[in-house]
Amino acid sequence: MTAASVENLGAIFASPAAYADPVAWHATAKRIREESPLLRVALDGYPEFWAITTHADVMTVERNPDVFTNDPLPTLVPSADLAAAAVPVKTLIQMDGDQHKAHRNIVNDWFKPGNVKAMQGRIDELARDYVDRMAAMDGRCDFVRDVALHYPLQVILSILGLPEEDYGRMLTLTQELFGAEDPDIARMGEDQSTLEVILDFVDYFTALAGERRAEPTGDLASVIANAELDGALLPDMDMLGHYVIIATAGHDTTSNAIGGGLLALLEQPDQLALLQARPELIDNAADELIRWTSPVKHFMRTCRTPFTIRDVTFQPGDLLYLSYASANRDEDVFPDASRLDVTRENAASHLAFGFGRHFCLGAHLARMEIRALFKELLGRLEHIEPAGEPTWIRAHFVQGPKSVPITYRLR
Ligand code: HEM
Repeated sequence: MTAASVENLGAIFASPAAYADPVAWHATAKRIREESPLLRVALDGYPEFWAITTHADVMTVERNPDVFTNDPLPTLVPSADLAAAAVPVKTLIQMDGDQHKAHRNIVNDWFKPGNVKAMQGRIDELARDYVDRMAAMDGRCDFVRDVALHYPLQVILSILGLPEEDYGRMLTLTQELFGAEDPDIARMGEDQSTLEVILDFVDYFTALAGERRAEPTGDLASVIANAELDGALLPDMDMLGHYVIIATAGHDTTSNAIGGGLLALLEQPDQLALLQARPELIDNAADELIRWTSPVKHFMRTCRTPFTIRDVTFQPGDLLYLSYASANRDEDVFPDASRLDVTRENAASHLAFGFGRHFCLGAHLARMEIRALFKELLGRLEHIEPAGEPTWIRAHFVQGPKSVPITYRLR
């Protein structure tokens, strides 16, 4: 570890490049947790914020959503982009209080385990399909580019009820929206911005809503298009917010958990062997892989009324950066936290899905997807090894490996 004083280490929370070196990132985060768990971070080009790095403190903030609101800044953006961050499409993540409750209620029932279970057959089929594709690839592929990136998007298309021919468009849009800091992924050309990506979504989903209102089906797109609040259909922008968050939040997050999850198993092969020998561990392993990868690195909150945690009294206007990635390696909750342990008893206590009012709506679905894919893959895998160094997405919001080359033999 460097001799830098802990006050100067906060750049890891804003730096896309720092996240692209996860071992170094976690070593720095561990030091911050131990020496200054509530760290004041002042960086050139960013609004000042407090990094909240322990499991207990992230929970405390999330348990007090009226004190610490999502509006107006749910994710960290450079100061220069603060005005543009006020996007025209408001999603659940930008909402608080009664407005959030009313909008969450629209989709909440659809995402309940009992309902999502009806998707099991389709998800198993997609998992089989992707492992079949791997089997057809001559024992060599890039697991992220060939599998992890595509399979969760197919699931999203299925739950929304979108046609397969729109797949390419959705893939580009969700990647651009969430990976926009990474030069390999961001849109080329100076006239393109996050706002334009969002406007592309708007066009697409406006047309979709029109179709589902004219002819409702049982899919999630119909639930949203025909939802009513206070006796009226949702205004277009509100409805679009629902489509946008489901199309985006459900894709790269799960892709990163799956791509990063396989990489973790390759790097800790005793856990891969254990999982193959005891497939019944897969349910728990899914949570451990989600803890270990923590694909959503942070969300932000804004303090509204004075509130004290440890020796800090947060003041109205203070920004708090909830570091899920750090909280999920907190040794006070997860002994030997930097080790993947598919038998870990409290693996599901991770905060990768957040906590409280904004707890990830897609958590059951994401677990189902991850379990189905690893169950199918590990059940058929005779041999697997890395076929080159992985590379990492440069992003400080949703992040994981960009490339995981492998060679393998499947049954
Ligand atoms: C491994 C995969 C996933 C991870 C790590 C993840 C993570 C998260 C996190 C951290 C939050 C914010 C929680 C908070 O503020 O307390 C969230 C919210 C949300 N997620 Fe996920 N997510 C995943 C998959 C999905 C999927 C598959 C869907 C839907 C298809 C989804 C839909 C949502 C929605 C709609 C919200 C907003 C909830 C609200 O603000 O009330 N997520 N997710």
